[in-house]
Amino acid sequence: MEIFADTADLKEIRTWLDFGVIDGVTTNPSIMLANGVYQLREGAVEIAKLLVDKPLSVEVVSDVPDEMYAQATDIAGWAPNIVVKIPIITTQGEPCLGVISALRKAGIKVNATACLSFNQAILAAKAGATYVSLFSGRISDEGADPSKVVRDTAEWLRTWNMPSKIIVGSIRETMNVQDAAQAGAHVVTVPPKFLRQMIDHKYSRFTVAQFLADGHSATERMRAMELGLGVDAGGAKKAPTLRSK
Ligand code: E4P
Repeated sequence: MEIFADTADLKEIRTWLDFGVIDGVTTNPSIMLANGVYQLREGAVEIAKLLVDKPLSVEVVSDVPDEMYAQATDIAGWAPNIVVKIPIITTQGEPCLGVISALRKAGIKVNATACLSFNQAILAAKAGATYVSLFSGRISDEGADPSKVVRDTAEWLRTWNMPSKIIVGSIRETMNVQDAAQAGAHVVTVPPKFLRQMIDHKYSRFTVAQFLADGHSATERMRAMELGLGVDAGGAKKAPTLRSK
């Protein structure tokens, strides 16, 4: 499974690339705005460069399918690793499947975004979307089970040998990442604050502290023995215990 960073924060992207964890980045207009990226082209090109050949999703800003197509062809030309995000429908419920299909025919990779149901996801896949973005948190907002939607879509793609990949986005808590992974998501796109929560664990901190203290004690005792002072002369600190914490 791939992990993308759901952010336009260059520092975070650099960090998680250096950690060897992320396989790409997703953005949307709200993320760009929240990260202070007001010049869409400049901001996207900078992120795309950092990613080298890993994919960067950049969303069109239009509610009109013809305009979306024109914007998408422009955006796709900014960098070779850009994937264009096209919403599955307009604000009025008009399908954007024609835009997805035409872009696919033009050789432009599409991330069909804002999908909240199995039916939307399979239509996006049929239209030729490279990625289908299922929004976990927003599916839950509607009282549906995101794991079931992801599992059903993944199974359908597998059964019919469809090449589209599911990206699970709209992560609201770390458990959503685990749920998406176990439901068969091909990609989970995670805001950096949750990546940090995923790695941290208070008992790991305690465990590391215990081993470190004991390692230092052993070194000090060894030195004391070398100096002929006996094993208790090292004055080493005691390793923490759960009770002394
Ligand atoms: C990612 O591709 C999505 O745009 C993003 O995860 C949406 O998250 P939100 O539902 O928190 O806005």
